[in-house]
Amino acid sequence: MKKKMEKALNNQVNAELYSSYLYLAMESYFQSVSLSGFAKWMRGQVQEEMFHGMKIYDYVNERGGKMQFDAIAKPQQKWDSPLEAFEHILAHEKNVTQMINDLIDVALDVRDHAAKAFLDWFIIEQVEEEATVGEIVDRLRLIGKDSSGLFLLDSELGKRVFTLPQK
Ligand code: FEO
Repeated sequence: MKKKMEKALNNQVNAELYSSYLYLAMESYFQSVSLSGFAKWMRGQVQEEMFHGMKIYDYVNERGGKMQFDAIAKPQQKWDSPLEAFEHILAHEKNVTQMINDLIDVALDVRDHAAKAFLDWFIIEQVEEEATVGEIVDRLRLIGKDSSGLFLLDSELGKRVFTLPQK
């Protein structure tokens, strides 16, 4: 694997682990305001982002690349409302989508078609992530200050069961 590709994939492992860390901070925030369904949903995100990071890590190793481990940035730890937290997630996921697009640009630039094929999985994944989070943002906006609506959504999100995607 070309060094430029290896470095870009290394950066993405760090970004995915940061996402996992950010969602862990959000899980903790939701626990602190007694919204246990939101917290459970967030645990699914923590696991999913860890899975993304490990998927790229495994790929770098499979291609004979080398991992370099940088510090993981400190995440934000407080939000004023569930809506603010979910708006943060939506902006964050849009940023991740851009990062994946940039990674594909690197793969095409160095003519690494195997990496491009590998990264296509993440493009589909990001479409799903943005759609899921966007829907929750919309629902939180509709709910506004209606606490019964919020508790209903909390109970719905609490039903999330994380299952590892097929590799
Ligand atoms: Fe790993 Fe939420 O993107």
